Amino acid sequence: MNTVKTALITGSNKGIGFEIARQLGNKGYEVIVSGRDEVKVKTAAESLEKQDIRVKSLIMDISNRKSIEKAQGELAADNVKLSVLVNNAAILLHEDSNIFQDISILEKTIATNVYGALQVTQAFIPLFEYGARIVNISSGGGSLSDSVGGWAPAYCVSKTLLNSITKQMAYFLSDRGIVVNAVCPGWVKTDMGGKNAPRTVEKGAETPVWLCTEAPEHYTGLFFRDKQIISW
Ligand SMILES: NC(=O)c1ccc[n+]([C@@H]2O[C@H](COP(=O)([O-])OP(=O)(O)OC[C@H]3O[C@@H](n4cnc5c(N)ncnc54)[C@H](OP(=O)(O)O)[C@@H]3O)[C@@H](O)[C@H]2O)c1
Repeated sequence: MNTVKTALITGSNKGIGFEIARQLGNKGYEVIVSGRDEVKVKTAAESLEKQDIRVKSLIMDISNRKSIEKAQGELAADNVKLSVLVNNAAILLHEDSNIFQDISILEKTIATNVYGALQVTQAFIPLFEYGARIVNISSGGGSLSDSVGGWAPAYCVSKTLLNSITKQMAYFLSDRGIVVNAVCPGWVKTDMGGKNAPRTVEKGAETPVWLCTEAPEHYTGLFFRDKQIISW
């Protein structure tokens, strides 16, 4: 019997997603490295393989429903069962600077950061094992109890929506024993976070990985940073 647990991480060809895949791989998970660019995904998967991590690659553009369906079909045909899904892939557009900007900036951001995560989760529900864990990578920028400050408004609104969807997911998946949380990784040095960010990817991935593996199951439907519950 195959007892290796499988984790799918969206947008894991680089940044925090790649590091989550690496840390889960080191804990013995088979990791599915996923992204929209074939070359980048292949390179990331090869790098993990060299570290003796069990890896599968999956090409999936989370902003494209057909791409999600195709990816789901590939895993289903392979009889993959998921213990973990990390909705990590997201965008932060350079031009996102004022809530009264062109509405297309909000539309594009929400299409990936919100509908992407929701549609990926919905598509993969049939593949989840009982007691699976879903971790939605959110941001303090999406918290309604943080002071707003005007930074990246479309991105912040998208993460507020993702937080709200996290609570809905936790409710609607509870009868399958599925635990769903949102997490802020902190301000992390990645292409998105920039070079001035104080956190390493190792630290940024730490709490998401804890939520995927060890956090108490009764914590479902909550928002975390640094292994502590934070307010929505
Ligand atoms: N860095 C921070 O300080 C920070 C703070 C708070 C929250 N977060 C959150 O943490 C998560 C990871 O961020 P990061 O800093 O690691 O960002 P990143 O370095 O920009 O990586 C983002 C990943 O998402 C992928 N992606 C974007 N759009 C996609 C799509 N439509 N389909 C599939 N994959 C897509 C990217 O693929 P490509 O390589 O093809 O673009 C890349 O693999 C995000 O949810 C972000 O909002 C980050």
